[in-house]
Amino acid sequence: MKLIGPFKQIVTLADLPLRGKLSDEQLQVITDGGIVVNDGKIQKIGNFEVLKSDHQNIEVETIDGEQIVLPGLVDSHTHICFGGNRANDFAMRNAGKTYLEIAESGGGIWSSVQHTRNASEEELLRTLLERIKFLISLGITTIEIKSGYGLDVENELKMLRIIKKAQGQTKAKLVPTCLSAHLKPRDFDGSNVEYLNYILTEILPKVKEEELAARVDIFIEKSAFQPEESKDFLLKTKDLGFDITVHADQFTPGSSRIAVEVGARSADHLEATIDEDIEFLAQSDTVATALPGASLGLGEKFTPARKLLDAGAIVAIASDWNPGSAPMGNLITQASILATFEKLTTAEVLAGMTFRAAYALGLEDIGKLENGKKADFVTFKTDNFQNVLYNQGSLKADRVYIDGNKAE
Ligand code: NIG
Ligand code: FE
Repeated sequence: MKLIGPFKQIVTLADLPLRGKLSDEQLQVITDGGIVVNDGKIQKIGNFEVLKSDHQNIEVETIDGEQIVLPGLVDSHTHICFGGNRANDFAMRNAGKTYLEIAESGGGIWSSVQHTRNASEEELLRTLLERIKFLISLGITTIEIKSGYGLDVENELKMLRIIKKAQGQTKAKLVPTCLSAHLKPRDFDGSNVEYLNYILTEILPKVKEEELAARVDIFIEKSAFQPEESKDFLLKTKDLGFDITVHADQFTPGSSRIAVEVGARSADHLEATIDEDIEFLAQSDTVATALPGASLGLGEKFTPARKLLDAGAIVAIASDWNPGSAPMGNLITQASILATFEKLTTAEVLAGMTFRAAYALGLEDIGKLENGKKADFVTFKTDNFQNVLYNQGSLKADRVYIDGNKAE
């Protein structure tokens, strides 16, 4: 058992509702607080001096100088296991080429597939661990990671096995997702439906057998998989016992509806979602995940987070860190910018990067600083928590705790 503190402010996010808009007055802020950690969990949070006198002889980890605390952040959508780099795509897009033209000239997702297939396992693991380290340095303690740059049995399993290996080498909690339905690979001899069937019969049984992922994702878009074939695929993955998430409404509306209809845990992107479907999402338990990093990487509009929150949706914010559409990886910068364009309160942004994102991953023991929850939290050297978003990512996290211990 250990008491950590004192902290100028602890923003617990306790008692906030899962869905809908939030005002900053709803935030619980404990001043001059401390956190008692026991066996990797939060035992108690309160005034530091009171906790100290209540727990005589307790080990104290003293914090010098003014610091604030937030729950460990959750990045619920990333593609950070990949080979190569798509800087040339970025430059070509900015020079006026379209996504399709770039794909046709050898760029796009297919180019990352080739680089990932050709990369050695050592190289993929090393670069994945570097990216995980960067995310932890931001204060992110739970990271979802998708496959989707292998696109055949051998290489999808290679990616998922590397993610599993990375879990053995980091304190952060990694949540793997099988995104074999990212795109039909160019070397697959058959239709979309045949490829989806190949995933169902050749890839997912092995994913299950080796316990490589409990979640399945699909990219529903004109250039990837079509609505009806995707719905059929998702219902079948559900029958196999997988949780579902969907890349929905990125450029074309309609697929968030499918995500809701099949009971997906989340529908992510939503840049093109129409008002009617915002209502549909808001009445469901499917989390609407904004990916501002993709808007910034592509120069596309932002997810209508304000409308979604006002309608009562569960809104999460994630980085989508990937080599193509979202190369930045800095969730705090992205969420701060989303807040300025969409007019989101600090409470809404913090909720979106913590317990609402955790809900999208089906995790209930993280995202709020409450008794009994996992002792994952991040500190910043400042006297006011508002400075974290105000500095738009340039105020660095100071200490990151996972299961009550400092993650180096
Ligand atoms: O979430 N939209 C599809 N998938 C990724 C992009 C992946 C890539 O371009 O490599 C996304 O933006
Ligand atoms: Fe994505």
